Amino acid sequence: MIKGIDPERIPTHIGCVMDGNGRWAEARGLARTEGHKKGEDALFEAVEGSLELGVKWLTVYAFSTENWRRPADEVRFLVNFNEDILVRRREELNDRGVRIRFAGRRDWRVPRRIIRRMDESLAMTEKNRRMTLTIAFNYGGRAEIVDAVRALVADKVPAKKIDERAIRSHLYDPEMPDPDLVIRTSGEYRISNFLLWELAYSELVFTETLWPDFTREHLYDAVREFQGRDRRFGGTAR
Ligand code: IPE
Ligand code: IPE
Ligand code: MG
Repeated sequence: MIKGIDPERIPTHIGCVMDGNGRWAEARGLARTEGHKKGEDALFEAVEGSLELGVKWLTVYAFSTENWRRPADEVRFLVNFNEDILVRRREELNDRGVRIRFAGRRDWRVPRRIIRRMDESLAMTEKNRRMTLTIAFNYGGRAEIVDAVRALVADKVPAKKIDERAIRSHLYDPEMPDPDLVIRTSGEYRISNFLLWELAYSELVFTETLWPDFTREHLYDAVREFQGRDRRFGGTAR
C-alpha cells in the first residue's frame, strides 16, 4: 500500500476540479490550449492513482455550463479535445475495468456527434465495476438541481412527496454516492458550480499545483489530508 495512507479509510468517491491549464501554458509562453493538452496526462495520473488506491468513484470536472463564455476558439478546442480523449482512451479505460459515465446537460450546445460518442462509451464500459469515472461535461450544479426539479414536476410528484431522497433520485446519476473528497487545483478557493447538491459534507482540499502538473503523488497527498480530517456530519467529534 501507499505510505501514510490507511487502506481501510480510502474515500469512496473523489471529485476533481481540474483547474489551471491556461495559467500553466501562459507561464511558459504557450497558447492556453497547450495547457489543456498537458492536462490529459494529469487526468490519467488521477485515474491510475485512484485505481491504485481502490477508489470506486472518480468524478472530473471537464467543462462547466459557464465555460461556453470563453472565446469561441477555446470552446471549440475544449469540446473537440474532450471528444478526442474519449475516443482515443476509452478502450484503455475499459481494459482497466473503468465504467465511464457522464454528468451534465445534453442541450443544443453539445454537438450530436459528442452525444453519440458518449452513448457508445457508456455502452462499451457499462459492465465494469472496478471504478466509475464520471466526466462532468456541460455540467453545472445549479443546472443539475433545476433539471432534477423539472424531472420531479414531469413525473407529477406531489409537493408532500418531495424530500431529499426524491431530489437525489432525480439527479444526473442517482447511483453516484456523494463525494467524500473534492480536490481543486490551481490555488482557487471556490467551487465554481461543481456538484452543489452532492458536496454538502465533502472534505475540500485545495492545492496550488496547476492541473497539468498534477500527479498521483498529489492525489495521495490529498487523501492523506482527508484521512487526517474529522468528519462529523453535524454530529459531535468521534
Ligand atoms: C481548467 O483550466 C480547464 C477548464 C476549465 C476547461 P483553465 O482553462 O480554467 O485554466 P486557468 O484557470 O485559466 O488557468
Ligand atoms: C471550473 O474551472 C470548471 C472546470 C474545471 C471545468 P473554471 O476555471 O471554469 O472556474 P472559474 O471561472 O475560475 O471559477
Ligand atoms: Mg480556470
